[in-house]
Amino acid sequence: MKDDLIQRMPATPVRVLLVDDDEDDYIITRDLISQVRDHAYQLEWVDNYDAALTALHRHEHDICLLDFRLGSRTGLELLQESRSLSGRLPMILLTGQGDHEIDMEAMKAGAADYLIKGQLDADKLERAIRYAIEGQHAEERLRRERDLIGRIMETSPVGIVVADETGKINFANLQAEKILGLTKEVVARKSCSVLDWRLTDVEGNPRSGPSSSLKQILDSGQPVHDACYAIGSGTTAGADPASRGRVLLSVNAAPLFNAGGKIDGMVVSVEDITARLALEAQLRQSQKMESIGQLAAGVAHDINNILTIIQGHTGLLLNVAALDADSVKSLKQISAASERAAGFIRHLLLFSSKQVYRTKMLDLNAVLHNLESMLPRMLGEQITLEIRGGSDLPRIAADVAMVEQIVMNLAVNARDAMPKGGKLLIETSVVEINGAYVQSHPEAHAGRFVCLTVIDNGCGMERSVRQRIFEPFFTTKEVGKGTGLGLATVYGIVKQHRGWLEVQSELGVGTTFKVFLPGAGEAGHLLAASKPESETVQGGRETILLTEDEPDLLKLTQEVLEQYHYRVLPAASGAEALRVWDEHHGQVDLLLTDMIMPGGMTGDQLAAELKRRKPSLKIIYASGYNSAFMGKDFGQDNMTFLAKPYQPHQVAQLIRDTLDGSRKDPCPPPIPAQGTSAPVSVPV
Ligand SMILES: Nc1ncnc2c1ncn2[C@@H]1O[C@H](COP(=O)(O)OP(=O)(O)OP(=O)(O)O)[C@@H](O)[C@H]1O
Ligand SMILES: [Mg+2]
Repeated sequence: MKDDLIQRMPATPVRVLLVDDDEDDYIITRDLISQVRDHAYQLEWVDNYDAALTALHRHEHDICLLDFRLGSRTGLELLQESRSLSGRLPMILLTGQGDHEIDMEAMKAGAADYLIKGQLDADKLERAIRYAIEGQHAEERLRRERDLIGRIMETSPVGIVVADETGKINFANLQAEKILGLTKEVVARKSCSVLDWRLTDVEGNPRSGPSSSLKQILDSGQPVHDACYAIGSGTTAGADPASRGRVLLSVNAAPLFNAGGKIDGMVVSVEDITARLALEAQLRQSQKMESIGQLAAGVAHDINNILTIIQGHTGLLLNVAALDADSVKSLKQISAASERAAGFIRHLLLFSSKQVYRTKMLDLNAVLHNLESMLPRMLGEQITLEIRGGSDLPRIAADVAMVEQIVMNLAVNARDAMPKGGKLLIETSVVEINGAYVQSHPEAHAGRFVCLTVIDNGCGMERSVRQRIFEPFFTTKEVGKGTGLGLATVYGIVKQHRGWLEVQSELGVGTTFKVFLPGAGEAGHLLAASKPESETVQGGRETILLTEDEPDLLKLTQEVLEQYHYRVLPAASGAEALRVWDEHHGQVDLLLTDMIMPGGMTGDQLAAELKRRKPSLKIIYASGYNSAFMGKDFGQDNMTFLAKPYQPHQVAQLIRDTLDGSRKDPCPPPIPAQGTSAPVSVPV
C-alpha cells in the first residue's frame, strides 16, 4: 500500500496530471499550484484527449485534474473511458461554469470532486487535491480489507453465515454451503433460516428449554458460544449422528448492529462435528469396555482360586467311600453350584480377552456348516434361518469353539428378539478395510477381513440399550432369562482374535451385527486332536515340583496328587522351588507351576530356568488368568496349560498325559451359548 499522504507529501512531490486544451488555463492552474507552500507538486500538462489517455497509461500520477471541455470530447468521457486504465487514480473535474447536471454525472462516473475554475484559489485547490488523494487511500485500504475478509471467508475451514433480523441466511461462505447443504440460489432467495436449526446436547439429543438460543441473539443480543445444533433429517432423539443425513454443528454466533445500534442480524460460525462426535463416542465406549474388562478379569482371577479350592475339597470328599447318601447329595450340589459359578467366570474371562485360546486355521463357512443342523432346533420353528456363505473367504486363525460361540450367542439373541417369529440371516463375506474406513471406526484395522453378518428382523434396540449391550451383566431380559453375558463374551472373543464388531439396530425394524475377523495366510498351526476325557484317571510314582503361592490351593493340590500316589515337592514361590530343586538334586519329573507368584519370579521364568537345567522336564502352567498370559495362544506356543478352577481328576489326568507325552494341552470345554438351556460346563 502507498505511504500515507500526510507522511509522504513533504518529502515526495505530489505528481499531478493536468488535462486542459487551453494553455491559459494551464498557466493559471500552474500558478495556483506554485503558491501552495506546504507541499511540493510536480505538474504535467497535456492538452488533448489522446495525449491524456497515453499519460494515464503510464500510471505515474497521484491525481488527475481534468478539464470538462476537451475539443470535440469532454473530460467526463475521458473520466469514464479511463476508469479501467487509470485504476483508482483520483480525478477532479474542472469546469468553466458550474452545472449541476455535470456535477452529478461526474460524481456517478467516480470523480473525486468537481471544481469551478473561476472560483479556485491556491488553498481551495490544495485542499481538494489533498482530500481526493486521502479519500482514495482510505478507499484503497477499505478495498484491501474487504479483499482480505473475502479470501478468509473463501478459504476458512469453518462455515460462516450471516443471517438477517428474521434469521434468514443471506450470506454463506463456501464451507458453510458445504456443511449446511446450501446452494447460492437458496442463499439468494433467503429461503433458509438459522432459527430452524435444532438445539441439542453434545450427543445430539434434542435439548429442552428455549427452542433456540440463536433466536435470543436477535432478541437480546446475547452471543452464543460452543452450542450444539442439529440439521437435516434423523430428528429422533439419539439417532445415530452419522446416519440418516443428520449433521451436528458446533455453533458460535454474535449479533450484528445497524447504524442506529439496533440488532439487524447475526454472524454465525458453524463446524460439522458429526464425525468427531461419533468417533469420540466410539472411543469412550472402547475405553469403558477396557476398564470393565480389567475389573472383570481381576474379579474372575480371585474367584477362580476360591472356586478351585471349593471344587477340590468337594472332589476329595466325594472320593471318601464312607459318606452317607445325604452328604453325597449335598456335596454334589455344592459341586454343581461351583461349576455354574465357574461357567460365569469363564464368560467373564472371555469378555476381558484373558481366556486361553487355541487357534487353528478355520474356514468360517465350514464352522457355519457344522452348526447348520443345530441352529434351527435352537431357533424354533417360527424363525426362518438362511445361511449364505460367501465365496473365496480367506481362512481365519481362530479358536473354533470360540467362533462357534460367537455365532450361537448372536443367534440366541436374535431368537429372543423375535418371539413371534421372523427371519435370521447369517452371512459371510470377505471385505478389504482401507484407511478411510479405519479413520471413522477406531476399532477397525486396515487389511483383509472375513465378515460374519447376523441380521434379524426382530424388535431392535433403542440407542440407550445399544450403547450398553457389550457390558457384562447388562440385560433387558427378565430375571432368570438372561445373564447379560452373551454379547460381553462375543466382544471379548472378537477382541482377542484382533477383530471388531459393529451393530446397527432400529426399534421395530431389526438388528444387524457384523463381526470382522482378520483373514490369515495359508500356513496354519494345526493342533493335535484332544483326547477324550477318561473316567478313571491313572496316577503314578513320579516326582512333581508343585509351585503355588496360594497356601490353601498348594495344600489341596498336594493332597490330590498324593492321593494319586505322586511324590509332591511343594514350594510357595519361584525362589523356594529352586531351593527344593537343589535339595533334591533335580530329581523332578514334572513342574506344575502357577503363572504369577510373588517374590520376583514368574512361573514362566521358573520354568525356563529349570528347563535349562533339565531339558527333559515336563511343565504345566496353571492360571485363572494372568497378565503374562493375556492373549497367549497355547495352540501356537505349544505349551501345556491348566486353567483354574480345576477338579482333582482333571489335574491328575493332565499330569498323567503330560508325563506320558500323550497330550500337550487340555482342550477347554465348549461353552454353551448364553441363553440356551444347556448346563454350564466346568472349565478345566
Ligand atoms: N438381536 C438383538 N435384538 C434386540 N436386542 C438385542 C439383540 N441382541 C442383544 N440385544 C440386547 O442386548 C442385551 C444384552 O445381550 P446379551 O446377549 O449380552 O445378554 P442377554 O441375551 O440379555 O443374556 P444372556 O445372553 O447372558 O443370556 C439383551 O438383553 C438385549 O436387550
Ligand atoms: Mg444373549
